[in-house]
Amino acid sequence: MAGNSTCGCQMSRRGLLGTAGAAAAVTVVSACGGEEPKPQEVRYGQVVGQTTDVPEGAGAVFNESKLVVTQPERDDYRAFGAACTHGGCTVQEVDEVIRCLCHGSEFDISTGEPLRGPAQEPLEAFNITVEGTDIILDSAVES
Ligand code: FES
Repeated sequence: MAGNSTCGCQMSRRGLLGTAGAAAAVTVVSACGGEEPKPQEVRYGQVVGQTTDVPEGAGAVFNESKLVVTQPERDDYRAFGAACTHGGCTVQEVDEVIRCLCHGSEFDISTGEPLRGPAQEPLEAFNITVEGTDIILDSAVES
């Protein structure tokens, strides 16, 4: 196992489970693979927001999970990573478009595609499930 002194990789998996719990173990083991887990990855299977916070024809930014959830049409919810693909700022506004105020990029609320630069790449898309008013994050959309 490749390890370094800052990620806890030298601790056995059993020891890790015994001291830190399974959820933390998954996080640390994933981090030991060489990359920090994305803030969204550690929330797969969890409720990340409420549909009551996501207006129709617009959306909302959920800062804790670094997600933007939109509702382009009634009861049609979409989720995107909130990190702007230009420079990594967290997008700040959602109405008819998703806006990054750092340098003015705008993204489509249905697809996450850039509508106005400087961003050239779409926001990362995620699969979600809605149960009642709960928005549950499932996984990243395979590209
Ligand atoms: S970081 Fe978003 S437009 Fe530059």
